[in-house]
Amino acid sequence: MASNNCPNLFADNAKTKGCIGIIPALRPKFSRNSSNDCEVFMKSTLLSMLTTTAVSALLAALAPAAHAADAEAAKALARQNKCLNCHAVEKEKEGPSYKKVAERYRGKSDAEASILKHISLGKKVKFPDGHEEEHKIVKTTPADDHDQVKNLIAWILEQ
Ligand code: HEC
Repeated sequence: MASNNCPNLFADNAKTKGCIGIIPALRPKFSRNSSNDCEVFMKSTLLSMLTTTAVSALLAALAPAAHAADAEAAKALARQNKCLNCHAVEKEKEGPSYKKVAERYRGKSDAEASILKHISLGKKVKFPDGHEEEHKIVKTTPADDHDQVKNLIAWILEQ
């Protein structure tokens, strides 16, 4: 077996000892080109190391997204509740833009709790024309689905 000629690139890593038979996916390459298994192995190893690095980088880049709000679900809930009649992401309407709300709460640890109160207690709010009315209370289907409300708040705070 050519594996005997192969320098042990990872002497301290038992899994990679013995060159061939380590990475099953790469085996066909070795059998097709048995004369320079070692070279192929090293190339493949390098390639797989690079791929692993690229994949890790990609996963790292995607990781925050895993915790990010589901924007479509948030917008759907906002639409159902007519939040968007009074709020837009960018523009000021009767209510402040969600960008402005997010800005105001940036870095504040009580952001979620405050907004939750704001959209679930129906407290009196002042409109630009000076009149006051109770703020809309968010409704979910099924009722009181906290995950949906949390997602909506997370989305607002991401704007
Ligand atoms: C009839 C108009 C209207 C509707 C509908 C409405 N809002 Fe508002 N909202 C306002 C106004 C006006 C304010 C500003 C209140 C203030 O500054 O006192 C406000 C403020 C807010 C704020 C900022 C709260 C804060 O702590 O500063 C958030 C967040 C918010 N609304 C979310 C929502 C969501 C989510 C919905 C839908 C469930 C919704 N709003 C529906 C008018 C509305």
